[in-house]
Amino acid sequence: RAVNRHVKGSFLPKENKPTIVADDDLRYDDVAMDLTGLSASEKITLFSAWGLIRKDLDVHGRNMLLLLFHKYPRYVSYFDFTDDPNAQSLVDNKSLFSQSIHVIKAFGSLIEYGLKDPALFNETLKKITRFHEERNVYSRDILTIGEVLLDYLAQVLGRQVSDSLPDAFRKLFATIACRFPAAPDVDGDVNDANGTLPEDTQ
Ligand code: HEM
Repeated sequence: RAVNRHVKGSFLPKENKPTIVADDDLRYDDVAMDLTGLSASEKITLFSAWGLIRKDLDVHGRNMLLLLFHKYPRYVSYFDFTDDPNAQSLVDNKSLFSQSIHVIKAFGSLIEYGLKDPALFNETLKKITRFHEERNVYSRDILTIGEVLLDYLAQVLGRQVSDSLPDAFRKLFATIACRFPAAPDVDGDVNDANGTLPEDTQ
């Protein structure tokens, strides 16, 4: 026992030691802004909200994707859920369920691990953008999914959501969206927004 206490963490190089020690002991060494585009207090806001959903991530991940498809049915066609040929509907499609877990875990790792390590945030984001290459996912789609997720969180967390969450959340999605390509301009209309606001809020 004594040996364990002595050894604890001491073999780790300094940069590998966890910065976040416990939920109630948040310590960020960062400056006001870094690659994440977020201030320390915005990070804490996001981290706290994430803590409220992380234990039922599978359920929330699937619900979020279902809410996206409910609000924007055109996104269903981006995906291939035929791996589950027996599903009667999207709600009981296990392929959708499985993919939604990947999506929410990738998003969660940006918050859970990336916010305290901006270089790791950057790498995770590179991987996420790579997943979407050749899939016609543009920055405006990221902002759209961001609004859907925020709406979902407001519904499930209700008054547990802090007043600062919407701004922090939108900033995070703006950072993610910046890394995605702008949608091709099909009609030359200068008012077509790319990377500004999702369609339903314009
Ligand atoms: C922050 C937002 C997003 C994150 C973190 C994310 C994450 C991911 C991840 C991790 C995968 C790989 C899934 C797997 O291996 O099963 C994936 C695939 C995919 N994502 Fe996203 N995604 C996001 C937004 C979007 C948006 C807005 C769309 C557009 C509707 C989209 C469309 C897709 C498609 C079509 C695939 C491929 C699924 C397949 O393998 O067939 N994603 N995404």
